[in-house]
Amino acid sequence: MKIEIKPSDQACGAEVLGIDLTQPLSEAEVKQIRQWWLQYHVLSFPNQDINDDDLEKFTLYFGPFGDDPFIAPIPGHSNIIAVRRLANEKAPLFAENWHTDWSFQEHPPAGTCLYGITIPPLGGDTLFANQHMALEKMPTEMRDKLEGKLAIHSAQLAYAPEGSYGEADKAGDRSMDIRPSEEAKATQLHPILRAHPETGRLGVFGTFGYIIGIEGMEAEESWPLLMELQQWQSKEEFQYRHKWKENSLVMWDNRSVLHAATGGYEGYDRLLHRTTIGERVA
Ligand code: SIN
Repeated sequence: MKIEIKPSDQACGAEVLGIDLTQPLSEAEVKQIRQWWLQYHVLSFPNQDINDDDLEKFTLYFGPFGDDPFIAPIPGHSNIIAVRRLANEKAPLFAENWHTDWSFQEHPPAGTCLYGITIPPLGGDTLFANQHMALEKMPTEMRDKLEGKLAIHSAQLAYAPEGSYGEADKAGDRSMDIRPSEEAKATQLHPILRAHPETGRLGVFGTFGYIIGIEGMEAEESWPLLMELQQWQSKEEFQYRHKWKENSLVMWDNRSVLHAATGGYEGYDRLLHRTTIGERVA
């Protein structure tokens, strides 16, 4: 069977068909997938009966593993984390706020791979928002306020001991093994409007949450601007909604999309395994 692409009719996203990820990929297949990944930003591979070794092998076709802090890996696989929620869990949803993975790092991951193991019969979709489109359609007035600005990224609002996944959250019933740390308070600057490291196409990088401020601006000025930006970045017209099925693998480009988890599956377990693809730094 020949490898094929089926674009979604949404702002990004496509399905890759005619491939078996339990088998080694050829150089030509890897090159083709990479080109589609850069073009469609979110690729899904349905009906892939893969195990954790296959997930790791797939990830390594596209770069080194990323560095995944604050969440304990699964036993025996130091580069895989479990995104898990139990049917009766009461803790706030994991990753419900718009974000791009680990944008507070000096070299944030190029991409993320997420594999659906236990998928509820309803809800639990993942939303993606195309950040090239968000910039291309941005009103000039908003773009002028952001041009040349550096965002201050940090994991502190989420993973510091006082953060939303901090010590108070740990005392609750969360089934994911999150490890809050003082290290989450470190900061890192990245341009808000940034050229994609591989394609050179401009987009908005990151959003409020992991972005905690703008260099040289007081919070009273930067926070309303960041909120306005987030409203814009996550507009429905820029979105792709991924509806999960068991045994589907999704691979997205953290440099060109934001993503957010959704709920609506109370009473059902949900489990996915996740790796990140590190950026190849010269
Ligand atoms: C994530 O942001 O890694 C998880 C997304 C999801 O659970 O849908």
